Formats: sequence, C-alpha cells, structure tokens
Amino acid sequence: GWGAAMVTAVALRLAAQRHEVDQVLAPLRLSRADLQRVQALMRQEMELGLGWESNANASVRMLPTYVCGTPNGTERGEFLVLDLGGTNFRVLLVRLAEDGIHMASKIYVIPTTITQGSGEALFDHIIECIMDFQLKHNLTEQVLPLGFTFSFPCQQLGLDKAVLLSWTKGFSASGCVGQDVVQLLQEAAQRKQHLGLKVVAVVNDTVGTMMSCGYEDPKCEIGLIVGTGTNACYMEEMQNVGAVEGEQGRMCINMEWGAFGDNGCLDDIFTDFDRLVDEKTINAGKQRFEKLISGMYLGEIVRHILLALVEKRLLFRGKPCPKLHIKGIFQTKFLSAIETDGLALRQVRAILQDLELQASLEDSVLVREVCQTASLRAAQLCAAGLAAVVEKMRKNRGLAQLAVTVGVDGTLYKMHPCFSQHLQQMLRDLAPNCTVTFLQSEDGSGKGAALVAAVACRGAEPWGQ
Ligand code: GLC
Repeated sequence: GWGAAMVTAVALRLAAQRHEVDQVLAPLRLSRADLQRVQALMRQEMELGLGWESNANASVRMLPTYVCGTPNGTERGEFLVLDLGGTNFRVLLVRLAEDGIHMASKIYVIPTTITQGSGEALFDHIIECIMDFQLKHNLTEQVLPLGFTFSFPCQQLGLDKAVLLSWTKGFSASGCVGQDVVQLLQEAAQRKQHLGLKVVAVVNDTVGTMMSCGYEDPKCEIGLIVGTGTNACYMEEMQNVGAVEGEQGRMCINMEWGAFGDNGCLDDIFTDFDRLVDEKTINAGKQRFEKLISGMYLGEIVRHILLALVEKRLLFRGKPCPKLHIKGIFQTKFLSAIETDGLALRQVRAILQDLELQASLEDSVLVREVCQTASLRAAQLCAAGLAAVVEKMRKNRGLAQLAVTVGVDGTLYKMHPCFSQHLQQMLRDLAPNCTVTFLQSEDGSGKGAALVAAVACRGAEPWGQ
C-alpha cells in the first residue's frame, strides 16, 4: 500500500545518501596493506636519512642530537629551561635532587605577530620573558646553566650548537633559518643588557620527552610527540649514523618525521582534503605527514570534509554555512569533545550550534563519523611510523622480540578519547614482534632539557662511555 511505498522511498534515499557519504570518506579509510606500505616507506626513508650520502634525498632528516644515553638517576643541579615550539612558550626552573625533580614554571603567550615577525623581535621577547621569570624567582644574580627545548628541525653540531633548518607549525620569524639558535639567543641577551646566559644544551621536545620518561623507565628509548605537531626520536646505533664520526654506542636521532612524504613518496595517500589543508598553510608542500596527523591540522581536515558534504547536500540539508568557511574555526579540541564516548548527540549539536551550524540528529551522527574517520587515520598513520621505528630497533639489536617503552607527550595524544588506543592497537598489529609500552610524560620538555643539561655540565665523556 501507500505506507509501504513511503517507507521504501525513504529507505532508498537513505541508502543512496549512505553510499555518497561512503564515497566521500573512502579515500580517508586506510587498509592494513596501505599502512604496511607506509611503514615500509618510513623504514626506507629512515635508512636514506641516516646515510651520509643519501641524506639529501630523504624526506625524514634523521638528525643527530648528541644525546648518547638515557638518564641514570645521578643527574643533579639547578637549571633554567626554555620551552619553545609547543602550544605555549614557557620558562622553567628545574632542580634535579636526591629526592626527585622539582620545578617552577611560567607560561608566556607569544602572539602570532611575533612568531611570524622578525627573528630579533622573537628572541628579544624570549629574553624579556626570561628576565621577568628571573625577577620573580630571585634569580637575577645567578647564571644558571640553561637547557633550551627548541622544537623545530635543527642541525646540531654538538649539544650546545643548533642551526635551524626550517620553521614548522606556523612559525616563520625572519632571519633565523640557517642560524645557530644559541647565538640568536645570546645576541638578544646582549641587546637587552641581560647579565648573560649559559646555554649548555639544545634539545628537541621528543628528546626531552624520551629523557624524562627514561628517568622513570630505563627501557624508554623512544620519544613521541602528538600535539600541535608530530615527531619521534629513538636510540640508534652509532655505526648507522652517517653524519657523526665514531662507531661505539648509540645516539638519539631526532627523526623529524613530520616531513615524511615531502619528497612525494606519500602522494597516493593524500586526499583532496589534505591538499586543501596543505595549500592554506604558511609552509605549503612541507611537513606533509604532520599535516595528516597533528593537532594543528586535524580540525582543518574535518572542516574541509564537512564543507564537501554540505556541498553534496549530505549535511545540514545543503544550507550554506558561512562560518564553516573560516580557516581554523573547527578546532581539534572539538574533535576530542565530539568523539567522547557516551556524549549525548544533543551535546554534539550544542558544539555545532556554537559554530552557527543547525544540526539535526542525523547531522550530528554524521559529523561524529567524520571526526572519527579523520582521527582514526591519524592514529593509524602514527602507528605505521612507530612500527617502522621499533622494527628497526629490533633488527639493529638482532632480537627476535623487542620490549621497549615510548615516552609520549602532546595535547592530541593526551586529550583525545581514543587516539592512544587506536595507535596502540594498530602498532601491535604492524609490529607483532615488539612489545611496546607507552608512558605519558609529565612536563617532559622541562625535565628532559634539565636532564640533558645536567649531563652536559658533567663535561668530558658526558655519557659515561
Ligand atoms: C614539528 C617540529 C619538530 C617537533 C614536532 C612536535 O614537527 O618540526 O621538531 O618535535 O613539531 O612538537
């Protein structure tokens, strides 16, 4: 009868819509074979990056850090630490003592006008923050050794010399690329008549994270960041590190895996959405792997998918959504909120309402599916990268089984309701011969830089080899 015909018509329409949605999302759904391929490519790029002659052709830079061991618990002293390159800029006072690590810290906001202005203004601002911090903590009469967590790709020539190779994550301060950041800091100190800084170590945030977790767990030989950006470091055999003389022992390698794919090797993984996101960044064509994964870009990927669904009239009944056209409006923290387990759909609706999106219940379900698809892909790609790392470490050491700990930090890893679970699950699948434990770092950038600074202050044969 008439009723049955209606039901059939509705069912057909829904099936057709479902099919169209699946078509939009299909390129973002990676098969196990896709991920195995990404893993193999990462492994290949790692080898290229490590080799002295092949390094120039690798998208993964594999930078030596001059950190040749993890902490042994005997590190002592009081240090000033700067942390630049994450969500916030911070100055910290870290004391490594018999009874543990003590810290005081302060966050300083650096406006975009400064991160994207002149290098002088950026480093002048940093010195002003240090001076403010020293005043507040009665440190103006002392010259404490300083550890600088500087979370950008640097060519290090020692623990205390780090030439910036390129800015990432929305920084673009002029006149810094190709310069030693320690020098830039010293020059700013002079301009500001600061009493003086004694920079003893520059460390990447991945390295700081590995070191701080290594203080708790000696098996921690990998550092991972999934925050504003994404990157990893790990302990590599010296004999494999082409850029540094010496064959004995190990050195921590800052992979700079965010740039994986910048040479085109991931082109068939990228979707139209990824290309749109990339085009609108200040470093188009760069950090392509990072742009699939990290917090600075995940919300943007979702925003572009939603726009495509609206255009196909599959979402919000195809009504124009002016706010959804604004870059950055769909923040990654919304993803975390929308995907939270058990969150009522009306709460999803409320989040969307704030973006002036009038969502029906069906719309809310679909938005959640889009978020899940993007974050699942990010976690799985991250797992493919890590799988390459742990498998390489296992083979380096000639082991049938490797047990290793990964020190992790970053807002996306810590705040997203299922990112870490998906990452770990996929990693078990891709690297079945490795038992990988994840240890979340508490303030790794701060503690880690102090630990490296402490070793640096010991002087000759710092890593006790
Ligand atoms: C970017 C930086 C890298 C850093 C990562 C996480 O990828 O280039 O140095 O470790 O972000 O903050």
